[in-house]
Amino acid sequence: MSRIQIQGFRPLKGRISIQGSKNAALPMMAAAVLHRGVTVLSNVPLIQDVECMKAILNSLGCRCIQKGGVLEIDASLLHTTQIPDCFMKQMRSAIILLGALLGRLGEASCCYPGGCLIGSRPIDLHLKALNGLGALAEEEELQVRVRAREGRGPTGGTIVLAYPSVGATEQALLGAVLAEGETRILGAAREPEICQLCRFLRGMGARVKGEGTDCLSVLGVKSFDLHDSFFSVGGDRIVAGTYMAAVMAATGDVQIRGADLEELKEPARLFMKAGARIRREERGRDFRISIKERPRGLTLETAPYPGFPTDLQSPFMAFLAGAMGESCIRETVFEERFATASQLEKMGARIKVEGLTASIKGVWPLMGARVTAGDLRGGAALAVAALGAGGTTVIEECRHIERGYEDICRDLSAVGAEIRWMDAEK
Ligand code: EPZ
Repeated sequence: MSRIQIQGFRPLKGRISIQGSKNAALPMMAAAVLHRGVTVLSNVPLIQDVECMKAILNSLGCRCIQKGGVLEIDASLLHTTQIPDCFMKQMRSAIILLGALLGRLGEASCCYPGGCLIGSRPIDLHLKALNGLGALAEEEELQVRVRAREGRGPTGGTIVLAYPSVGATEQALLGAVLAEGETRILGAAREPEICQLCRFLRGMGARVKGEGTDCLSVLGVKSFDLHDSFFSVGGDRIVAGTYMAAVMAATGDVQIRGADLEELKEPARLFMKAGARIRREERGRDFRISIKERPRGLTLETAPYPGFPTDLQSPFMAFLAGAMGESCIRETVFEERFATASQLEKMGARIKVEGLTASIKGVWPLMGARVTAGDLRGGAALAVAALGAGGTTVIEECRHIERGYEDICRDLSAVGAEIRWMDAEK
C-alpha cells in the first residue's frame, strides 16, 4: 500500500519535465496489434497502466520490450483474441483492443469492463462502433464478443456516435484500419490524443484523415500495407495541468517542459482568470505559470475537447478549495466524479455537492490531514490541496496515482515541494 507525506505551505519554484501522455500511449499500444511486425514508441510513460497494457499484449502473443521510455512491440506472433479478465478489471480502457483484434484476426472477446469510482462507464457506443463495421458485437453473461461476418474481416461503413466518446472513437478507428472499404466516424471525439493516434496510424501505413474535427474518415488497407513504424508520444496535458494546479495551490513560479500549451487552452484561460500569469518561453514550447497570492474563485463546467477536460476537474477543485470567494464546478462528462470533495473536507474544505454541481466556499488555509485516494485524478488532486495546506498531509492508497503519474513525488520535489513516498520501495 503506497502512501505519500506532504508538508504544505512551500511555494513552488523551478522546472518540471512532463512525462509522455498515458491517454495517447495506450491506444497506440493497442493499435500495434494491427501490424504483423514491429512498432516502436518513444516517450512512453513508466506507469502502471502501461505495464498492464504490455501484460495484455504479451498474453495475446505479442512481445513487448521497454527500455526507459522506448517501447518495442512485436505483434508478429499474435495468436489470441481473448483479453484476460484480470487485466480488463484493472484497466477498462483495454476494451479498445477489440477493434484492433477484429481487424487483425476477425474476432475478439473480453469480460464486461466494470464501472469505476467516476461513473458507470457503459460501452454501448463501443458496441455501436463495432456493429457499424459489419461485425456482430454482443454482450452475453458479462462477456463481450465481437466477430466479423462469416469469413470476412470488418467492412467499412458510417458510424454515428451520439456522444463524442474518446474510447469509442478509438475503437472505431482501430476497427476501421483493416476494414474493407471506407469508414466515416461522425460525432467523433476531438481530443489531442485522438489526433496523435491518427498521426501514429498514418505512420504505420493506415489511411486516416479528419483528426481534430468531429468527422473522421478511414480508407481500409490490406495488412501488407502496414509496416514497421516509430512514433514519439506527446507530453501528457493532464499531468501538466495537474502540476499547474499545484502552483495555484502553493503559489510560486514554475516552468513546464515537454507539454503543449496549445492542448491546454481552456485550463490556461481559467488559471489566468483565477490570477495566474502564464507565458511562453522565447524558444521552444516550454511555458511558465506563476502566481504570488491566493487564487480567485471560478465557475467552470467540464466538456469534451476543446472544452474544459474532466480529468482536471478534481485538481481544479483542490486549489479552488483554498481560493478567495466562492467557486462552482459542473461535471457534465462523468456522473460520479466528485468523490474527492469528501477527502478535501477532511482538510477543512467547504464543498457542497448536489448532483452534477459542486459549490465551493474558499477556506484558507486548509489544514493537513490523513486522506485517501479513490481514483487516479482525485488522488493527484489531494496532493495539490496538501501543497497549499498548513501542516502535514498523508495520502493513503496512492497506487491509484501511480496508474497515471510516473512519480508525482519526484516531479513536485524538483520544484521545492516537501513531498515523499512513505514506503521503502520508492
Ligand atoms: C477517456 O476515457 C480517458 N481515458 C479518460 O481519462 C477521460 O476522462 C475520458 O476519455 C474523457 O476525456 C483514456 O483515454 C484511457 P469517454 P473514456 O468514452 O474513453 C460515456 C484518466 O484519468 N460513454 O469519452 O472511457 C461515459 O460514460 C481517464 O486518464 C457512454 O455512455 O471516456 C462518459 O460519461 C479517466 N457509452 C462519457 O461517455 C460508451 O460506450 C465520456 O466517456 C462510452 C462512453
